[in-house]
Amino acid sequence: MLRRTILAAAASGRIRTLVGRAPVSRSVVRRFVAGESTDEALQVTRRLVDAGLTVSLDHLGEDTTEEAQAKSAASAYLTLLEGLGEQGLTEATEVSVKLSAIGMGVDRALATDQARTICEAATKAGTTVTIDMEDHTTTDATLAVVAELRREFPSVGAVLQAYLRRTESDCRDMAHAGSRVRLCKGAYKEPESAAFQDRNDVDRSYVRCLNVLMAGAGYPMIATHDPRLLAIAHERTRWYDRPQGSYEYQMLYGVRPDEQVRLVTAGEKVRVYTPFGDEWYGYLMRRLAERPSNVAFFLRAVATKG
Ligand code: FDA
Repeated sequence: MLRRTILAAAASGRIRTLVGRAPVSRSVVRRFVAGESTDEALQVTRRLVDAGLTVSLDHLGEDTTEEAQAKSAASAYLTLLEGLGEQGLTEATEVSVKLSAIGMGVDRALATDQARTICEAATKAGTTVTIDMEDHTTTDATLAVVAELRREFPSVGAVLQAYLRRTESDCRDMAHAGSRVRLCKGAYKEPESAAFQDRNDVDRSYVRCLNVLMAGAGYPMIATHDPRLLAIAHERTRWYDRPQGSYEYQMLYGVRPDEQVRLVTAGEKVRVYTPFGDEWYGYLMRRLAERPSNVAFFLRAVATKG
């Protein structure tokens, strides 16, 4: 209930203005966002990599409505990839891209062209790209762009959301050799016709999808902070005889950092999805919606102007 209310509030222009102007914003945002500039993102990346983690950097932005804005979002990735290359960080760091940030809402060809440019730059820098998944109305188009990109750049990663009823079948289609698939629960407000609404149903779907990916020949990227699902994933690595390095765990920057380090210490590959940039509003609202204590953290910060 709280999750749906926050996601609905997130769409409100008035709330966006209020939160964006609040003096507390910076400290609250800092918990989940690596900074506004490329330099800050590179510094955080260096710190994470030095701690044994790998990273996926996301330049924040979504729902771009202008061609110029789409091109500028893509160009931010080119600057980022150049910086990662210069600092020798590309082996441990890839980038995550939202198609809506690079013009999907304007024109699919525009977004595909921008994505291709980013993939070329990533390949040149020695790394790869994962295409984030957004709300269910975009799933087919996003998977079609991923398939198109993979013809030229086979290592491009896809994201599938366990809360969608269709996802187990999508996992079957994508569990083939060379296919990198990030499995997450899903972060958008979705109708019952498209998505499981009950948390237990989402978790059960996650496990079914995980089974398909782990049994297949692809590279599963297990994106969750959920202790129960992490324990099940660990068990599945044994069931399906998956050596460490033939899959990876992924978590969000600022969420369960101790667990991230614990897994690395146990020899696992862990990638930290690390967003940066000034368009943090939608991202922050989805993080607050996920966990009541995040809302408490936010309200406490408002109360203390921390
Ligand atoms: P959930 O939020 O249900 O939490 C389950 C349990 O995990 C909690 O009960 C608690 O025990 C523990 N937990 C969670 N947060 C915690 C915290 N802050 N501190 C302590 N314990 C905590 N979504 C999407 O729609 N498209 C996308 O492309 C992506 N990409 C993506 C990449 C990566 C790397 C991750 C980790 C996630 C995404 N997501 C996403 C977001 C994803 O869909 C989902 O909304 C969040 O990961 C939250 O779901 P969890 O699986 O963590 O479980």
